[in-house]
Amino acid sequence: MGLFVTFEGIEGSGKTTQIELAGEYLGQRGIPCLRTEEPGGTSLGRRLRELLLNRGPFAICPEAELLLFAAARAQHVREAILPALAAGKVVLCDRFADATAVYQGYARGLDMETVNFLNAFSIQGRHPDLTLLFDLPVETGLTRARTRIELMTPGQKEDRFEAEELSFHRKVREGYLLAAHREVERFRVIDAAGTIAELRETVCFHLDRMLMERGLNT
Ligand code: TMP
Repeated sequence: MGLFVTFEGIEGSGKTTQIELAGEYLGQRGIPCLRTEEPGGTSLGRRLRELLLNRGPFAICPEAELLLFAAARAQHVREAILPALAAGKVVLCDRFADATAVYQGYARGLDMETVNFLNAFSIQGRHPDLTLLFDLPVETGLTRARTRIELMTPGQKEDRFEAEELSFHRKVREGYLLAAHREVERFRVIDAAGTIAELRETVCFHLDRMLMERGLNT
C-alpha cells in the first residue's frame, strides 16, 4: 500500500532540495504524497530535532543520541508514515533508519546489533521501498552545508553534526555506500555533484519507474 521513498546522503548532498522538487513533481501529476523528514515530521520529532541538531548547553552521549533518534522515528512511523501509506500516498522521507545505522552505528561505532534492534523496533516492520542515496565528496558537501548554516539564526543553527571531524563524515559516506552495496535492490546511488536540474531529472526518473512497477502511476 502506498510507496515509501527515503532520501539519504552526507551533509550538503542536496537531498532536501530534491525532496521538495520531487514533492512538487508528484503534486503536478496529481499523485497524493506526504513530504516529511527525520528527525522531525511530528510535534515530538521537531522538539527532538532541536535537541539533537542544535548545539545546546548539555552533552548528548552516543547512546542517548541513538535512543533519541529512535524515539523520534517510532513516533513518526506511527503518527505520520503508516497512516499516509495506508491512505495510498507516496511518502517522501528526508532520512530514515539507514541514517541511524550509518551515523550512530558505522560512524560513531555503537554496537551494530543494538542499532539494528532499535531500528527494527522503531520502524514497526515498514522498510522503505526505494532509497535514493545522494553521493558526493565530503569536502564539497560540508562546504555547501556550512554556507547554508551561516544563514540560520544564531541559537537555531542545526550544526551539531557538521561540527564533527572530516574523518567522521568520511565514515558516514563510506557507511552509506556499503549499505547501498549490500541492498542493491532498494538503493539507487545518485552522483550529487550534478546540477539541481540534472538531479531532479534523475530523481523523477527513479520515482516514475517505481510508480510504474507498482502500478501506481496515473
Ligand atoms: P538533515 O535533516 O539536515 O539531514 O540533518 C539531520 C542530521 O541528523 C544529519 O547530520 C544526520 C543526523 N542523523 C543521525 O545522526 N541519525 C539519524 O537517525 C538521523 C535521522 C539523522
